[in-house]
Amino acid sequence: MKLIFEKSRKGRGCDVLPPCDVPIAELPLSLGRKKPARLPELDENEISRHYSALAKRAFGVNDGFYPLGSCTMKYNPKLNEEAAGLPGFRDVHPLQPEHTVQGCLKVLDIAAESLREITGMDAMNFQPAAGAHGEFTGLLLIKAWHKSRSDTARTKIIIPDSAHGTNPASAAMAGFQVLNIASGPDGCVDLAALKAAVGSDTAGLMLTNPNTVGIFDPNILEITGIVHEAGGLNYYDGANLNAIMGIVRPGDMGFDVIHLNLHKSFSTPHGGGGPGSGAVGCKKLLAPFLPLAGCDLEGGAAASPQSIGRVRAFGGNFLVVVKAAAYLLTLGKENIPEVARNAVLNANYMMEKLRAKYPVPYDGPCMHEFVISLEKLKETFGVSALDLAKGLQDKGMHPPTIYFPLIVHEALMVEPTETESRETLDTAVEAFMTLYDQAKADPESLHAAPVNTVIGRPDDVKAARQPVLRYSADIDR
Ligand SMILES: Cc1ncc(COP(=O)(O)O)c(C=O)c1O
Repeated sequence: MKLIFEKSRKGRGCDVLPPCDVPIAELPLSLGRKKPARLPELDENEISRHYSALAKRAFGVNDGFYPLGSCTMKYNPKLNEEAAGLPGFRDVHPLQPEHTVQGCLKVLDIAAESLREITGMDAMNFQPAAGAHGEFTGLLLIKAWHKSRSDTARTKIIIPDSAHGTNPASAAMAGFQVLNIASGPDGCVDLAALKAAVGSDTAGLMLTNPNTVGIFDPNILEITGIVHEAGGLNYYDGANLNAIMGIVRPGDMGFDVIHLNLHKSFSTPHGGGGPGSGAVGCKKLLAPFLPLAGCDLEGGAAASPQSIGRVRAFGGNFLVVVKAAAYLLTLGKENIPEVARNAVLNANYMMEKLRAKYPVPYDGPCMHEFVISLEKLKETFGVSALDLAKGLQDKGMHPPTIYFPLIVHEALMVEPTETESRETLDTAVEAFMTLYDQAKADPESLHAAPVNTVIGRPDDVKAARQPVLRYSADIDR
């Protein structure tokens, strides 16, 4: 497909701008461009076709089932997009005087209050723009707390080997040393390993519960207790909150600080480079260190002198919070647990059906996602997790996450999400089952998959390491 720059023809266009409703300011010549901007010039018809063609080459939740474990691409109500598009939210400027944005601040307040209640935290802050950014911020809070007590020997963050990759990365970025501990045979935290790891150098523990194999750790109170007793704090990676919201609270599990992925659990799609919100919540002891929010509701609390400062401009990605608030208000307190119940029900339904052919390394019921292993299939028939994922694309669905978590060989991590119907799950199960038989009968055909997609098997490493994101040809026509 040609790039929009390649379709451009000098002099074409459809730029009918609305009349200017602000005073026109002339820029000094020294600030002007030497050459016109390199913008593609096309008529409206061509532009419309170009973007339609691009949309057809992508796959999103509006196209089909998207069980991307850990990255939760679920259907989100379009109504919430409309709420975020209301001019009173969309058109505000962060430097407007506070008395003109009281409605927006009220929305932040409503969202914060609901999320505080759902998580069991005392304070909530929306400045971080992504989950990993929330982790980094939360870890800086832990660091600031230890420092405020002159306990500077606490330099280590303990992280289980099942953790999401962003956890150790964020800890290292926040200046901590990462101490990895192995999971037990049940996929949960190995208590003996944790007890051996904690000490006077422990700054804290980072944990997601349910963990990345989809299991809720039954020893959670003992785990957080061990860390507290050693003088550390507990960080909860709340990216998987859709599994537990309204049912149990991280604050009651002994966690001191958490981040939430509003762009997973609360009505904004995850991924795709769009705006996110890694809201950070914490208990009272850490609240004085929270980032400066930018502005407050009239009569709101003044910024704390102990704040770690800003981690992003102003109040964060405000419109993501608007969607979260709309979602929370639509559900209401009584229906929030229903989200978690459906997430868990859908995952268990699918896991139990797949168990008939696919090994599930960790026994027992799962939470919102589960992991299957293709290790045996690969050993016997040479069909890998990647081959199966490619085969699933040919069946019209987005593949699950593959090769994660690292503690499961040839892993496929499936998260059906709370928003899928039983019929969709049944169709997906059928696709998995057919592919299993195909893998045994004709493994070669899966090595050649996918055959129905625009791109077959790109060089993943090259795409990640050397992405070509800019048109570089000379277009000074
Ligand atoms: C468990 C877990 N932690 C952290 C993250 C990081 O979130 P983000 O991709 O917004 O940085 C994710 C991402 O999906 C996740 O699944």
